[in-house]
Amino acid sequence: MNRMYVCSCFGVTEQQVQQHAENGARTPRQIASACKAGTDCGSCVRRIQALLGRGACPRHTPSGPGEPVLAELVGRQGPQARGLDEAA
Ligand code: FES
Repeated sequence: MNRMYVCSCFGVTEQQVQQHAENGARTPRQIASACKAGTDCGSCVRRIQALLGRGACPRHTPSGPGEPVLAELVGRQGPQARGLDEAA
């Protein structure tokens, strides 16, 4: 049997977390109440969140190629642009 430990502090496996989730645990706190996972060093909490489907963070995808923020200022020859040229 292949055991993937989620919480090494308490020896809690992925399968056990999933079983607690099937039994109604919806949050890492509820998993902790069921088996103590996440209540010592806390390094497993994110993994537990991921197993519960609450840790997933949608990747940021740009809406399009966009324009450089200062694109409209390029080539602008207003007083501020001239002032910057003179200061340089
Ligand atoms: S690994 Fe789970 S509390 Fe430390």
